[in-house]
Amino acid sequence: MGGCFPCTRPPKSDEKDQIPPTSEKLKSKSSVDLKKQSSLNENQISSSASGRIAAQTFTFRELAAATRNFRADCLLGEGGFGRVYKGRLESSNQVVAIKQLDRNGLQGNREFLVEVLMLSLLHHPNLVNLIGYCADGDQRLLVYEYMALGSLEDHLHEPSPDKKRLDWSTRMKIAAGAAKGLEYLHDTASPPVIYRDLKCSNILLDEDYNPKLSDFGLAKLGPVGDNTHVSTRVMGTYGYCAPEYAMTGQLTLKSDVYSFGVVLLELITGRRAIDNSRAAGEHNLVAWARPLFRDRRKFSQMADPMLLGHYPARGLYQALAVAAMCLQEQPSMRPLIADVVTALAYLASQSYKPQNQTNQTASQLAAPGSPQTRVDLERRPPSGSERDRSRASK
Ligand SMILES: Nc1ncnc2c1ncn2[C@@H]1O[C@H](COP(=O)(O)OP(=O)(O)OP(=O)(O)O)[C@@H](O)[C@H]1O
Ligand SMILES: [Mg+2]
Repeated sequence: MGGCFPCTRPPKSDEKDQIPPTSEKLKSKSSVDLKKQSSLNENQISSSASGRIAAQTFTFRELAAATRNFRADCLLGEGGFGRVYKGRLESSNQVVAIKQLDRNGLQGNREFLVEVLMLSLLHHPNLVNLIGYCADGDQRLLVYEYMALGSLEDHLHEPSPDKKRLDWSTRMKIAAGAAKGLEYLHDTASPPVIYRDLKCSNILLDEDYNPKLSDFGLAKLGPVGDNTHVSTRVMGTYGYCAPEYAMTGQLTLKSDVYSFGVVLLELITGRRAIDNSRAAGEHNLVAWARPLFRDRRKFSQMADPMLLGHYPARGLYQALAVAAMCLQEQPSMRPLIADVVTALAYLASQSYKPQNQTNQTASQLAAPGSPQTRVDLERRPPSGSERDRSRASK
């Protein structure tokens, strides 16, 4: 659960919280707020077929009933916004996830408004579906489709005995789906939307491990016309933030591509973006990976040991090459998300079944860089195109 870190400069006047007094007013007023933010009107966000606001409004009483009064055993998790509960709506019998704004929390009404507006207008199979919201009195709640397998973070970094370890193919499927969600925001939404908060805890998984991006409270309408960036206070999560955005507050679509690179690297390595429990020099995932990217013989050292060596050598090279490109220091050198989608859709389409693998137990687990994983690569030298790609990533 990563906390958001706030700004390096005070909020602009148009960034102040704007609290609608009633849920009906929320609809009209929130769109005005976004207009102010970006000088765009609601009609320009025409990414859904109908472009209309579809979220339902709920009373606090309905949501309390759905969660049996926010009972502790309905709690799914907790983030910077507040607690998330599993519930069942009495009206439709639908199972939902209900996020309740913590009124003492770091994230506030402005994020609530942006979340409602963005998710009401944007619809894609790889974005979580907002069913509705409640803005009764000073209560602020969001009602989402329930994602049966929780977040990617839970599976990758907080595995428990009841959870299946993510295999290589599932990781590539998740990476490809998350990239498609981002591609929709960057290339289909008009104006483009910069997501700003891509990280493992914001990628939710349905019962078939289909990923959906969640948490749009920090999303921004992207630059229009000849502008290449929007200036904003720096918000995001430490470890995922593009260096130029952290330093200057200049936000571009390429800031999201960088964050995507961090998530892809987490999927490949099984390491957290920031992990202070690791050895000195390995706390920051990207800083640890950079020197390894330069030497393709070291690629096998980067594979998650939990994969037990069950991954295709070519696929590993290619996925690492994509991650390295997304993580380029220079934003202009990073690929467009559409190109990332093409590469990852290809990797996800390659069915991988571990062959000639003996039954390895955890005690035989190949540690990163152990002879076991190195031998695998030496046996199958990369093709010319792979060599080119790994060179391109240097
Ligand atoms: N729609 C959902 N379906 C199922 N579980 C969910 C849903 N939304 C959130 N959760 C669970 O609740 C947890 C907390 O989510 P939340 O978005 O509030 O915090 P976070 O992403 O961990 O942190 P942050 O506030 O920085 O985004 C998630 O990790 C996930 O396990
Ligand atoms: Mg979240």
